[in-house]
Amino acid sequence: MKLILVAGARPNFMKIAPLVRAFDEFNEQRRSDGAENRKRERRGKKKKKRDETGSTNGEKIWYLLVHTGQHYDDGMSDLFFRDLGLPKPDIYLGVGSGTHAEQTGRIMVEFEKVCLREKPDLVMVVGDVNSTVACALVATKLLIPVAHVEAGLRSFDRTMPEEINRLLTDQISDFLFTTCEDANRNLLREGIAKEKIHFVGNVMIDTLRRHLQVAKKSTIIERLGLAEDGEVKKYALLTLHRPSNVDSPLVLKKIFGAINEIAMRIPVIFPVHPRTLIRVQEFGLNGLMNYMKINEIEATYLTKRSNKKTNLKRMLAVPPLGYLDFLCLMSRAALVLTDSGGIQEETTILGVPCLTLRSNTERPVTVREGTNFVVGNDPRKIKEMAFYILENEIPPRRVLKYWDGKAAERIVRVLVKHFKFEYNEKSRIAGH
Ligand code: UD1
Repeated sequence: MKLILVAGARPNFMKIAPLVRAFDEFNEQRRSDGAENRKRERRGKKKKKRDETGSTNGEKIWYLLVHTGQHYDDGMSDLFFRDLGLPKPDIYLGVGSGTHAEQTGRIMVEFEKVCLREKPDLVMVVGDVNSTVACALVATKLLIPVAHVEAGLRSFDRTMPEEINRLLTDQISDFLFTTCEDANRNLLREGIAKEKIHFVGNVMIDTLRRHLQVAKKSTIIERLGLAEDGEVKKYALLTLHRPSNVDSPLVLKKIFGAINEIAMRIPVIFPVHPRTLIRVQEFGLNGLMNYMKINEIEATYLTKRSNKKTNLKRMLAVPPLGYLDFLCLMSRAALVLTDSGGIQEETTILGVPCLTLRSNTERPVTVREGTNFVVGNDPRKIKEMAFYILENEIPPRRVLKYWDGKAAERIVRVLVKHFKFEYNEKSRIAGH
């Protein structure tokens, strides 16, 4: 079978990495099964018994990786490909930034050309970004089946662009791969046929489990001056990029006020998303944070000017970090404050307390069974909860079903069973 796997923005890259690996592993397995069968045939023995997919001859998943270019900077994209060991995209659409309509429209126009040329059997999209809905819509109109990985999550807040992307993508998808029971229920409630829903677990957690040990070897804690005599200091980690938090000067200023009060007690590290940095500059809020490149911080520590220069009574903002450095920082943090979706799940698995600075979450399982607290963006609440967490033990999380590092493998099993691999070798993707 021939499949197009789409990625566009930073959170997508962690989700496609285990899928790429699962496709490769499956193909490798098929190759050796095929070789074994041919050997047996040559020796005059009967072919091996057919497997559950009905195939015996080493057919494979020909996949083509398409990067839409929604995120394009080294720090937002290439660094993740390197950290996650992802192959270079086969096709780069280079759509870049713009308004929602501009970005979505550009992706659709370019992706349609790819689908018409490549004629895939399936288009697979992940998550909830503009690239997800744009490519799903193109495929479904060309009558190409669509698989949505991380389907069914709902914040029930239609002011969020991601909620619109999730709702629409799920309505037009043929395979809905879910991470939790809540998602299954949401999809059934929206009238999605039960046969289309496959509860497989969380591919982003596949990536976390695979990289955690390597990430722990990162030197980012030392480079940020967060260790003294080999002892890691207590510190907090902050991320912010949602329009509801960063597009209003008043709201952003209030959040920064609360964060700086936390920073009076413990260092707060803030890897800044490019859209947030633009807003901070626009609103003239630069004075509320120390913004430094990592090598400047190192130089400051080395010349022992740290206290005066870096004034750690204010949050320490740094450019976006790669996957491994960020995972390392997250895993050792006393507290994470965020408005991201994925980080709520990652902190749950790491057992690190997380304050979600939003009024809702599409991932309630991380609140019920994990370490997540949804506190909104009221500064009083943020401070209260942060200080409570810093002074109290947070109960351990429960084990979440299928967040076990094998979600991508389950997805491959579903696809193989369904498609039975009727694939014509002649239309094989060049270079694969
Ligand atoms: C997008 C996703 C959001 C996801 C987030 C993670 C949508 C609707 N939103 O939001 O769900 O959580 O990515 O980062 O798809 N920019 C750069 N360099 C880049 C990419 C972006 O400088 O490589 C700047 C540009 O100024 C751009 C702004 O960031 O205008 C916003 O980027 P965009 O991809 O449109 O949305 P995000 O806010 O990143």
